[in-house]
Amino acid sequence: MAEENLSAERLELASNTVQQLVINGELPERYFYKGSDQGALDASFPLLDLPIVDISLLKDSPDELKKLKSALTSCGCFLVINHGMTPDYLEKVREMTKKFFALPKEVKQKYTREVDSTEGYGNDMVLSEQQILDWLDRLYLTVSPEDQRKLEYWPEFPHDFRETLEAYTIKVQRLIEEVLLKAMARSLDLEDKCFLNQYGNKASLAARFNFFPPCPRPDLVIGSKPHTDGGTITVLLQDKEVQGLQFLKDDQWFTAPIVPEALLVNVGDMMEIMTNGIFRSPMHRVVTNPKKERISVAIFGIPRPEQEIEPVAELVNETRPRMYKKVKNYAALWFKYYQIGRRPLEAAMI
Ligand code: OGA
Ligand code: NI
Repeated sequence: MAEENLSAERLELASNTVQQLVINGELPERYFYKGSDQGALDASFPLLDLPIVDISLLKDSPDELKKLKSALTSCGCFLVINHGMTPDYLEKVREMTKKFFALPKEVKQKYTREVDSTEGYGNDMVLSEQQILDWLDRLYLTVSPEDQRKLEYWPEFPHDFRETLEAYTIKVQRLIEEVLLKAMARSLDLEDKCFLNQYGNKASLAARFNFFPPCPRPDLVIGSKPHTDGGTITVLLQDKEVQGLQFLKDDQWFTAPIVPEALLVNVGDMMEIMTNGIFRSPMHRVVTNPKKERISVAIFGIPRPEQEIEPVAELVNETRPRMYKKVKNYAALWFKYYQIGRRPLEAAMI
């Protein structure tokens, strides 16, 4: 039996999922959110006016490139369409995500992460007694480079999970490396490969499958605490029906609209560093829903730990002095700061 292979600690973790809390009808106090943006969690928030960038136009249309630049320098996020993945294909990725989280807990627990690692299935890593937990279960898998995969955490059910994840990630990788990073460079009048040079040709791609069960107290509990993403670019497949993701813009929270055939792209901290702060790594959070569960799939593009990341020389000048230090293994730094509720980019600032 699968259980025999799990340590007592991992078994305990496996029974601590938010999904299990819902089944037991429990709402422990450590899920009560106490951030400064508390108190307005379940209010209605205006929709963010997210630019829609048409990938097929990026090569030849200066206007589309301008739209991209304007999105990246203001809210740090945008929607992409005509990315080559059909609505049915995106739906298949959503469906397999739902099917995984719908599996009996005995099946899922086989993929439970180790206590001190993010790789695998589980909820928040608990590092202190005071930590406020997110109303969220996730499955975190490193997909590339291939030799870093930990297949023991890759679900075998639904049966097409592994191959679909692999194929989807290859498509997202192409989108990041062959389209987005190049267009982002061009939008700043930089040479195509400018960001790719720092991104490296062996960057990792990690997939985070998020599952937000319905929450009895959306006024008190947060799905995902405010954070910025640590990588270069995040490509997010949102739930087709249930909203929840919000971005901070001009000190106000806005809800991200759902466009089922689109993918949402946001800048991560490493991109903010490379652009010397010109592109913004936006603060975002997820609020909970009292009735409906919500899923999302985030793919993060993360340069190898030994890769040095720094502002590109062309973006540093007298009017825009260098804002960030050269960093290495920023992902680890990000995680450390995130867990203690601090803004990781602070650590890279000059
Ligand atoms: C994330 C994230 C948003 C969402 O996984 O980093 O911000 O909509 N997810 O689930
Ligand atoms: Ni995020």
